[in-house]
Amino acid sequence: MEIEVQRGDARDAQVDALIVGVPEGAGLPRALGSLDAALGGALRAYLDSGQFSGKSSELVQIPARGTRAGRVLLVGLGKERSVDAEALRGAASRAGRALRSAKLKSAAAVLAGLRRPAPEAMAQAWAEGVLGGQYRFDRYRTLETPGPPLERLQLLAGDARHLAALRRGARAGAIIGEASCLARDLSNEPGSVATPEYLAQRARALARETGLRATIFGERELERAGMQGILTVGRGSANPPRLIVLEHGAPAPAARRRAARGRARPTIALVGKGVAFDSGGISIKPAAGMDEMKHDMAGGAAVIAALRAVAQLALPLHVVGLVPAAQNLPDGKAYLPGDVIRSASGKTIEVLNTDAEGRILLADALHHARSFEPQAVIDLATLTGACVVALGHECAAVLGNDQRLIDRVIAAGERVGERAWQLPLWDAYKKQIKGTTGDLKNTGGRPAGTITAAAFLSHFTENLSWAHLDIAAVAWRAGGDAESGARGATGFGVRLLLDLLRAWKT
Ligand code: BES
Ligand code: MN
Ligand code: ZN
Repeated sequence: MEIEVQRGDARDAQVDALIVGVPEGAGLPRALGSLDAALGGALRAYLDSGQFSGKSSELVQIPARGTRAGRVLLVGLGKERSVDAEALRGAASRAGRALRSAKLKSAAAVLAGLRRPAPEAMAQAWAEGVLGGQYRFDRYRTLETPGPPLERLQLLAGDARHLAALRRGARAGAIIGEASCLARDLSNEPGSVATPEYLAQRARALARETGLRATIFGERELERAGMQGILTVGRGSANPPRLIVLEHGAPAPAARRRAARGRARPTIALVGKGVAFDSGGISIKPAAGMDEMKHDMAGGAAVIAALRAVAQLALPLHVVGLVPAAQNLPDGKAYLPGDVIRSASGKTIEVLNTDAEGRILLADALHHARSFEPQAVIDLATLTGACVVALGHECAAVLGNDQRLIDRVIAAGERVGERAWQLPLWDAYKKQIKGTTGDLKNTGGRPAGTITAAAFLSHFTENLSWAHLDIAAVAWRAGGDAESGARGATGFGVRLLLDLLRAWKT
């Protein structure tokens, strides 16, 4: 989909659909007067009759007689006072979905009449929203196909004042929106396709396209680095494990010298759980819903996608993405309850349940992150079912050892509609995972499962500034409770990470 910002009159746009966002309870914005006149007063008539009031759930399509467009899509933005980037993105997403259902090829969003958010954020929200709304995972469908996506989206500015800012926003929105779609694609891909090696190849390919540095640890490299956590979790699968490392803005030798003088780009490490399928292993999961465990690499997908966007946006940071990837399967070679694993850090892990595999491979990846001397480490993981119980599907859980970082994560999530709620990580919880044969047990029992999982990770992030996002409840929407398009992977975390990184200040 091509996105272009143009100055122009909505009446003259030759597109399949004009998209008009209307806030609730503010009447018809004056700037839409001429469009309304061309439409024979249809906009005002809809508002006056109460058939459309601008509520954020509303979307109506009306004929566009008197203009050069095929139809007009009125989308509600919600209460005038609370129209912000997030409200706009939501409306744009609903419009994007409707355009796809109607199999339209081109659309123009009318920006005149929208007073908030600021131009750059406004264009970003339109681009991200329409891209997200248009998203379908349809590569395996041959019978009822949703039809191709939009070819062209215009953002129509009423005047020339903010064109540069709008263009900046549209570009960022396109990059970030497409990164979300990439994360969703990777996560929606079946487990037999999106193997650890597949993820590594995709990472390598996008590194080549965008100038990232890719380093893939195969079994030999994992052995050499002592990453028995990753190797052990992956041992039951015919598809061997990998550690994928993507780097943007890696300091060149000269910069490293500057770094010694304290003027380097800050280094941020992003770690994503990449369990390419989680059957539970020998501690096998029940059959019902096990298909959803193809999404157990959603954290890794978010990290890979975010890295691509970081490169495209050329952020002035050194960002390292680490994705430990493995399939957790039962097999003659699979790891066993009772096994003791020596992790790369040297700490030993006693396996009580092979289904608590994420924390074992994250332990090695978090330990490796240390070698980049990062200013902050953020991990994303579909780590615990307990997180679904604790918070439901409205937010991720966030825990960590640096309140300032946690606050920034929460604030970024709030801005982009990917909310996170903090759970406590007091030392008292550590006793639940204290080992007997080894240093640490890989499960802490039923109570506070999300917290004890984070407490486990905290043993591998000592002296780092670290925040952990448990995205188990928000990484995908189950078939039953979601309409098509919204179903499956959500790409949760991509927008949060990019918002955080774009605003990063040391
Ligand atoms: N990937 C799962 C967590 C999960 C469950 C994510 C449901 C999304 C939805 C993880 O590897 C897991 O199996 N965790 C166990 C841990 C337990 C054995 C301590 C869990 O949550 O049951
Ligand atoms: Mn598991
Ligand atoms: Zn898992």
